[in-house]
Amino acid sequence: MYCTRAVTDDLIWIGASDRQHPVFEAAHPTPRGMAYNAYLLLDEKTVLMDTVDRSVQTQFFENLDHALGGRPLDYVFVHHMEPDHAATLGDLMLRHPEAAIVCNKKSVNLIRQFHCTDPAGAVLVGEGDTLCTGRHTFTFYEAPMVHWPEVTVSYDRTDGILFSADAFGTFGALNGILFADEVDFERDWMDEARRYYTNIVGKYGPQVQTLLKKAAGLDVRMICPLHGPVWRKDLNVILEKYAQWAAYEPEVQGVLIPFASIYGGTETAANILACRLAELGIRVDMMDVSVIHYSYVLSQCFRYSHIVFAAPTFNNGLFDSMEHLLRDLAHHNLQNRTVALIQNGSWAPASGKLMSQILGEMKQMELLQPPVTLKSALAPGQEDELEALARALADSVRGVCRVREEEPAADKPKGFICTVCGYILESDTLPDDFVCPICRRPASCFQPLT
Ligand SMILES: Cc1cc2nc3c(=O)[nH]c(=O)nc-3n(C[C@H](O)[C@H](O)[C@H](O)COP(=O)(O)O)c2cc1C
Ligand SMILES: [Fe+2]
Ligand SMILES: [Fe+2]
Repeated sequence: MYCTRAVTDDLIWIGASDRQHPVFEAAHPTPRGMAYNAYLLLDEKTVLMDTVDRSVQTQFFENLDHALGGRPLDYVFVHHMEPDHAATLGDLMLRHPEAAIVCNKKSVNLIRQFHCTDPAGAVLVGEGDTLCTGRHTFTFYEAPMVHWPEVTVSYDRTDGILFSADAFGTFGALNGILFADEVDFERDWMDEARRYYTNIVGKYGPQVQTLLKKAAGLDVRMICPLHGPVWRKDLNVILEKYAQWAAYEPEVQGVLIPFASIYGGTETAANILACRLAELGIRVDMMDVSVIHYSYVLSQCFRYSHIVFAAPTFNNGLFDSMEHLLRDLAHHNLQNRTVALIQNGSWAPASGKLMSQILGEMKQMELLQPPVTLKSALAPGQEDELEALARALADSVRGVCRVREEEPAADKPKGFICTVCGYILESDTLPDDFVCPICRRPASCFQPLT
């Protein structure tokens, strides 16, 4: 039985939601499920925009059959080859051998790798290429590393629709709704949109900025992502968030305290610090990283301007859950934050040094002061150290508000981005004989970072 929704007069949403897998791609909890979008255009030619994850393939094929209504399938646009969108592409090719796959060169290799077959008669498209399907004309734009190297978005010039692949997606099943304006998106969905962005593409801010710049040159009236609701109103709500997230700009001037604690000593110190900050009128939140999945903590770290990491020493190392979080933050390129540390250890506290080491591998992470050191629990008089830390954080939060407003754009890091694979060369100059260390393309494939 089909379950579809009309997007426009001739575009139909034929995706489906999975509510049974508690974790997306073996990494991110999805307590609200996950939507895998696919769209069918009924123009003079019929066009399928992507397929879906294996978990919802039965519903997808029923939707496709219904929406086609017996017509042949002419084209399949493959925007992203990751299996959450292309796992059923192999099956689709068997069911619809008449359909021509429209994709870029990099996708052909991935189709070969994932589906052990060459797409016969594939139409290869590159940056700026167009394809007319009757009333509609599409232009293709490459979006490398948003989220994989082969990602392409397409723009329907006729109706102003951007088919944006993973960009502008969110976690969460579509429970009957299809459009962002059918829900209170800022209240009920933005946290999950942020968690999706930061965890899935957070690492690739400059590449997302490149895509945003391309989109800014188009008259985009609707955004159809591969996960989550479709945007047809107030597109700026999500575009402005993306601009902020991609620039690693915090949304909240305040202090987040991710902490780990075995016996409660570190947690008590974190509680006291949070109380002092609240009394000073500073927005503050705490997250126990041993209890709350790091996917959520990472998302909040992208949100806050200031972060205090608090953790015990563990077998001469850093407590596991905190180490995992910090490595994940470094891996996702979190940058441009002011941080402070609380370390704890009963005989040889080392967690502060170990946390600093990981933070030192990250860009523009300013350590406000040396770690506050606990030996088992807060000693008498140490409340003063926490109070002093709270005051330093409060000053910094208030100061940063002023400095960031005045900061000239020219201070942004300089570099060059490979337009093929998204590799970033951090340098003021690009040597003529430079070769991309990832995809081996020459300097001519690089663009200055803006
Ligand atoms: C398995 C285990 C290993 C530990 N290893 C160390 C260590 O190498 N060095 C140290 O100073 N403390 C070590 N500790 C002690 C804790 O870091 C210390 O008791 C700390 O105060 C706990 O903070 P909490 O009350 O916030 O849990 C270890 C504790 C446990 C349970
Ligand atoms: Fe993806
Ligand atoms: Fe995806």
